[in-house]
Amino acid sequence: MTTVLKIDSSLYSKAGQSSQLAAQFIDALAERQPGLRVIERDLGHEPVPHLDAARFQAFLTKPEERSAEQQAVAACSDALIDELRAADVIVLGVPMYNFGVSSQLKAWFDHVARAGVTFRYTAQGPAGLLTGKKAYVFATRGGAYAGTPGDTQTAYLRQFLGFLGITEVEFVYAEGLAMGPQSRDTSLAQARNALRRLAPPIPLAA
Ligand SMILES: Cc1cc2nc3c(=O)[nH]c(=O)nc-3n(C[C@H](O)[C@H](O)[C@H](O)COP(=O)(O)O)c2cc1C
Repeated sequence: MTTVLKIDSSLYSKAGQSSQLAAQFIDALAERQPGLRVIERDLGHEPVPHLDAARFQAFLTKPEERSAEQQAVAACSDALIDELRAADVIVLGVPMYNFGVSSQLKAWFDHVARAGVTFRYTAQGPAGLLTGKKAYVFATRGGAYAGTPGDTQTAYLRQFLGFLGITEVEFVYAEGLAMGPQSRDTSLAQARNALRRLAPPIPLAA
């Protein structure tokens, strides 16, 4: 059975345009693969705490030496990582806010990038430990940046996911969403067409 992890990172939770495109993609996947298992992580509805020194220290402390508070911090991060590990496919709804990803998504990144757990350092440099997965990103923007230096997100997301070992990443953009109703409607319609084309026609996993 294929397991999909859906990460929503819009302020508007499931009502966000990025979350809705991600949901439509999963619907298209489910049509092709009945019984698809979907794990949902809605960071707008249930934000991950901002990483601070105490939290990071909890990650660095050996499990057997963690205080009760540090155990709770590590357990929160472990639960997020378990969801990632369980997933064959990761579907990310990624709005652009103030020229970057949402702080909710960044906080999640800060909790799933764990040395010795999701990546490790080798003599050849860092190696991601979450291999064999595929990610799909649904990027929504008020303006239009894809293919220009103003697109701060695409390279960043490839870099971050690749660091964890997730190197197969597809992007669907819905841009110009704040450039008038015609621009918005056309862009969303194009994104919906693109996501239907992307949904794999054959099962991803037995
Ligand atoms: C706080 C905030 C900041 C935003 N900053 C940008 C921006 O820097 N560039 C841009 O193109 N659109 C920006 N927008 C517009 C959003 O990218 C657009 O509304 C998009 O649809 C949001 O996705 P969502 O509906 O999934 O949250 C911003 C919207 C908000 C609410």
